[in-house]
Amino acid sequence: MSKRYAGITGTGHYVPEYVLTNQELETIVDTNDEWIRTRTGIRERRILKDKDKATSFMATRAAEEVLERTGTDPKEIDVIIVATVTPDYMFPATACLVQKNIGATRAYAFDMLAACSGFLFALTTGSNMIESGRAQKVLVIGADKMSSIVDYTDRNTCILFGDGAGAVLLEAFEEETGVIDYVHYTDGDDQCLLYQPAGGSKRPASHETVDLHLHSLRQDGRPVFKKATEGMADVSAEIMKRNNLTGEDVDWLVPHQANLRIISATANRMGLDPSKVMINIDKYGNTTAATIPLCLCEWSDRLSKGDKLVLTAFGGGLTWGATYVKWSV
Ligand code: UT7
Repeated sequence: MSKRYAGITGTGHYVPEYVLTNQELETIVDTNDEWIRTRTGIRERRILKDKDKATSFMATRAAEEVLERTGTDPKEIDVIIVATVTPDYMFPATACLVQKNIGATRAYAFDMLAACSGFLFALTTGSNMIESGRAQKVLVIGADKMSSIVDYTDRNTCILFGDGAGAVLLEAFEEETGVIDYVHYTDGDDQCLLYQPAGGSKRPASHETVDLHLHSLRQDGRPVFKKATEGMADVSAEIMKRNNLTGEDVDWLVPHQANLRIISATANRMGLDPSKVMINIDKYGNTTAATIPLCLCEWSDRLSKGDKLVLTAFGGGLTWGATYVKWSV
């Protein structure tokens, strides 16, 4: 069998209507618009206010959009992978809820947890399934309802995160296109720099864990900032070197949207003109697994077949990586 490639043939997204501005946050915690904008680049973020709706709702809407835009019958989907740290339930997987909602009756479905690197790791998994010949069409979704695990009394973290979902459809190609190469890393030594202390089997929910706010995410911002800046820049440079790419060759950098200063440092290291960097952190903040597919969807009209993209992310775990994609449509 000749080598197969996994190309991205469409994108979809969903962001909730409610806009949480920096000005509104000023009324909730001791912060100010200027501090948030200059330290992070964020002006506002979207929040899923409806108490009955969760991550699967946003993931489903993003999936429906990509199916519609590509004219794909849900019954053609072989696999659904949802990257998330905020599943509707501990189990079943959010991907199973999406499978039911969209009527993908032939698909098997599972979640992947790699925090902010979740979408990249899921993209790698999905593309390997297609390259192996076992799958023809794979839906890869990044979706997070971060507002469900943010402590809105903690100014260090509550200004950073928002809710949203993005999806891509992967399909098999004979020509060299789609996911060309990837480099992924994990460093479990620093697992507690960014994590959700309770709710898992180590510290199940109890009165004490609730009283201590242990179900909200915790981040030691400064060391994560340093490691993220080094990690994203290094891994992006590494994937460029492996594929003989210069800053001139790369058409788009698609960075995880955690902090504008981290994004700028990565683009600088790659020798990229700022006009080639996808940035929407100002509108959505950090939506964890959703940031990269949200960018791909928002920029999809400006992408052409053959465009060279470098996707890169850094997050809890610690996990980080970069993926080299040639746009397929
Ligand atoms: O997506 C997963 C990976 N995550 C990341 O990549 C995030 C990485 N970290 C960051 O982006 C940055 O560390 C933050 C944006 C979280 C914080 O920025 P920073 O420049 O590292 O600030 P800092 O934590 O060093 O705090 C500086 C000062 C402190 O005051 P003192 O101690 O210098 O008096 C904080 O108390 O800013 C204060 N501060 C705030 N002030 C106003 C912290 N949060 C706020 C706030 N509003 N919201």
